[in-house]
Amino acid sequence: MLPTVLNLVTCALATLSSPVHGLLHDRHSKLPLPARIVYRFPNRTWIENIAVRPNGDLLLTTLLPNASLYTLEDPQSPRARPRLLHTFDVDSLLGIAESRPDKFVVVGGDFSSRAVGVPGTFAAWTVDFGSQLGSHPRIRKAANIREAVFLNGVTELPGCGEVLIADSALGRAWRLDVETGKYTVGIQVPEMAPVPDAPLKIGINGIHFFKGFVYWTNSFEATLYRIKVGYNGHPTPGSGVEKVAKVDVAFLDDFTFDYNATAWATTHLDNKLVAIKPNGAAVVVEGSAQELTVAGDTACHFGRTEKDRKVLYIVTDGGIASPVNGTMVEGGKVVAVDTSGF
Ligand SMILES: *[C@@H]1O[C@H](CO)[C@@H](O)[C@H](O)[C@H]1NC(C)=O
Ligand SMILES: *[C@@H]1O[C@H](CO)[C@@H](O)[C@H](O)[C@H]1NC(C)=O
Ligand SMILES: *[C@@H]1O[C@H](CO)[C@@H](O)[C@H](O)[C@H]1NC(C)=O
Ligand SMILES: *[C@@H]1O[C@H](CO)[C@@H](O)[C@H](O)[C@H]1NC(C)=O
Repeated sequence: MLPTVLNLVTCALATLSSPVHGLLHDRHSKLPLPARIVYRFPNRTWIENIAVRPNGDLLLTTLLPNASLYTLEDPQSPRARPRLLHTFDVDSLLGIAESRPDKFVVVGGDFSSRAVGVPGTFAAWTVDFGSQLGSHPRIRKAANIREAVFLNGVTELPGCGEVLIADSALGRAWRLDVETGKYTVGIQVPEMAPVPDAPLKIGINGIHFFKGFVYWTNSFEATLYRIKVGYNGHPTPGSGVEKVAKVDVAFLDDFTFDYNATAWATTHLDNKLVAIKPNGAAVVVEGSAQELTVAGDTACHFGRTEKDRKVLYIVTDGGIASPVNGTMVEGGKVVAVDTSGF
């Protein structure tokens, strides 16, 4: 099944018009930013998302070859190696977010041969390091989200024990109470839906709460949107959707913010990392269509220790969805980008 899925993805993507000119360049930073490979997995490993524990260890989810969760301890060490924590009983794992300190929510499910999610297979689990001695987490199912079609990015809503989960196919964000497993439609606006000419039914993808707003990417529209929310994560009455940026790339995947409210966004099919300023100006800071540097980049997260607070960890699918120069793929990898000069 998986080769069929991949062929379909590749075919669908081959119909996209090709890159990408005219992004703004920042005169003050030396680009591309310095990058280093932390670890490359075996061929046909698609790393889909990343979170960082309070102690600085990375958590990685895989979409291929199976639905696994890895930890990569001390990513600043040249000897850093991943360790498998758990393989879930679905085909693929996707988003991950920290719902309270050292407790994470991951989502996953199955895909059909048409490279779309299989309704009825998606679920969310909690991965709790907090209650454990040592570094093996307690993992339990939080909820089967039966009506979901393609769960993707996840964001915490600080302080309320709930998360928002992007459903890329339905164009909505589910709202899940992590403790009770109760879920409802959290936010659903037209700007979350797949655009009519999208080659795959993927609209909303990455989703993040940041300073009073919920932000999301609409992948094939290559846009970043936001809506104002209250402290409880519900849209403020009367607040409309704002378009933060329209980026000149084929696809926007997941993203993260730095302290200066710059959004660092992966482009997956474009093999680039872009930095989007609060005013919407975007600049390519790493990679290019013809490079493997961050080929197939799916998500990113800043380090959380004193040593790596300005290091952006990027994960990739190794180019498997859209091979570099048509043929070149490698194993998915973790790349550390030093953003201190930006
Ligand atoms: C991984 O894939 C590349 C490109 O197809 C190939 O050159 C390489 O030999 C493969 N590595 C392994 C260990 O199979
Ligand atoms: C999932 O894939 C990984 C990497 O190939 C492998 O080490 C692991 O044993 C697999 N797990 C299962 C349950 O197949
Ligand atoms: C943010 O801005 C400050 C001061 O303007 C700067 O020192 C810092 O490097 C910037 N970038 C990040 C990622 O915080
Ligand atoms: C892709 O092709 C271009 C143009 O021929 C070449 O410059 C580049 O090095 C190739 N990329 C890789 C990763 O080999």
